[in-house]
Amino acid sequence: MLDIVVLAAGKGTRMKSSLPKVLHPIAGLPLLSHVLNTAVSLGEQDSSDHQLHVVIGHGADQIRQKIGSEGIRYCEQTEQLGTGHAVQQVASLLRDEAITLILYGDVPLIREATLDKLIATVSEESMGLLTIELEDPSGYGRIVKDAQGSVRAIVEQKDANTEQLALCEVNTGVMAVKGKHLKQWLPKLSNDNAQNEYYLTDIISIARRDGIEVITEHPIDEMEVLGVNNRQQQAELERYLQEHIATQLMTEGVSLLDPFRFDCRGNFEAGEDVVIDVNCVFEGDVTLGNNVHIGPNVCITNSVVGDNVVIKANSHLEDAVVRDNCEIGPFARLRPGTELANGAKIGNFVETKKSFIGEGSKVNHLSYIGDTTIGKKANVGAGTITCNYDGVNKFSTTIGDGAFIGSNSSLVAPVSIGDKATVAAGSTITKNIDTEELAVARGKQRNISTWQRPVKK
Ligand code: UD1
Ligand code: CA
Repeated sequence: MLDIVVLAAGKGTRMKSSLPKVLHPIAGLPLLSHVLNTAVSLGEQDSSDHQLHVVIGHGADQIRQKIGSEGIRYCEQTEQLGTGHAVQQVASLLRDEAITLILYGDVPLIREATLDKLIATVSEESMGLLTIELEDPSGYGRIVKDAQGSVRAIVEQKDANTEQLALCEVNTGVMAVKGKHLKQWLPKLSNDNAQNEYYLTDIISIARRDGIEVITEHPIDEMEVLGVNNRQQQAELERYLQEHIATQLMTEGVSLLDPFRFDCRGNFEAGEDVVIDVNCVFEGDVTLGNNVHIGPNVCITNSVVGDNVVIKANSHLEDAVVRDNCEIGPFARLRPGTELANGAKIGNFVETKKSFIGEGSKVNHLSYIGDTTIGKKANVGAGTITCNYDGVNKFSTTIGDGAFIGSNSSLVAPVSIGDKATVAAGSTITKNIDTEELAVARGKQRNISTWQRPVKK
């Protein structure tokens, strides 16, 4: 039984931002969401009994709105009077027999396995404290131990004497303790210290006085306990996380031509023999099949890509579905609602939106295809535009199986082009075309032999 308390009330002044610090993203997800996801996965072991509290203050409404309230109890700390004061806000909601776990909304990389170790130290006679040894401990609370090596207190940097300042084991802030113990200790905190704050860290010396042993545990990786206070630290954690994701993908059989130039901001899944060139960005939920080759500078957002697909350089896909054996790009833009059937081809400078491109059909050059359904094996010539919008309403276009649309045609929707119909190049089509018909809709060519070029006066 866990009561997880995430502190997220601070302003994050050094971010210099109107966005609350914990909403700043790494790998496409707010800092706070990373912590909450880890908290929830901790819950999965015997989930029903866990409770999740988030203490908010600065930007509270923005946080509620962005993160939502599913499975979360928010608690407002209107004035930030210290970490102890923050936890006091939820004290009445903590259950005596549950273990309270304290986490931080701006420390996003904390791992489940580390927290499991920490939680395992908690009993009727003991609590757990996550600490690390740092070469440069400045800024952190120092862990003060007695001659026997037992933790006696945490002393904040600003309250520490010279001897204490030299200590290199520091407090990460993460701790786990029986609810009933914490609830006894929280009212005893005072703000009689250098910062006039109610320090959560003061519970350590109180625990000791009450005969509760403080057991230290350590993170598996130091990065887990790094906080984000400014944009440099945000960028550092971003890079760390991206390298971690890249390594994981390579382990699973994805080739990254340069793992340092790969960015995943969401849930990315890929089959075997996927090759990804440099500077690609994947956002939201992206699934790639087997044997997919992706060129440089490709951005894919919330899309599904089948097997044996080639996506050439500088293409953008958003909310698109691409079936097997398709070829896309370079410089293609598949906007939301695009679906390419098996073996379809979308070439350079082609934009598609809310359109179905049938099996084996090709739109190879310089086109806009919107609100359109294209059948099988149709060929849409260079520069073809579906005129789907009259300035107010959108209309659809249908292009039948085996149709051939000559270059530089405008198809004024609503319009339907039959199977195997042909449109002459340069036509402006405003009427439906039947199966196998040829439509010519352009001015007739006149050659004027008596024509004289104007001359300069
Ligand atoms: C705290 C610890 C210090 C530890 C360090 C690790 C205390 C007194 N000190 O110091 O021992 O080494 O973290 O980073 O706990 N917060 C609130 N409400 C408040 C105050 C803080 O929600 O009233 C939140 C902040 O948003 C932040 C976190 O608590 O996420 C830590 O607060 P901060 O003021 O940064 O503590 P430190 O001085 O870094
Ligand atoms: Ca801090």
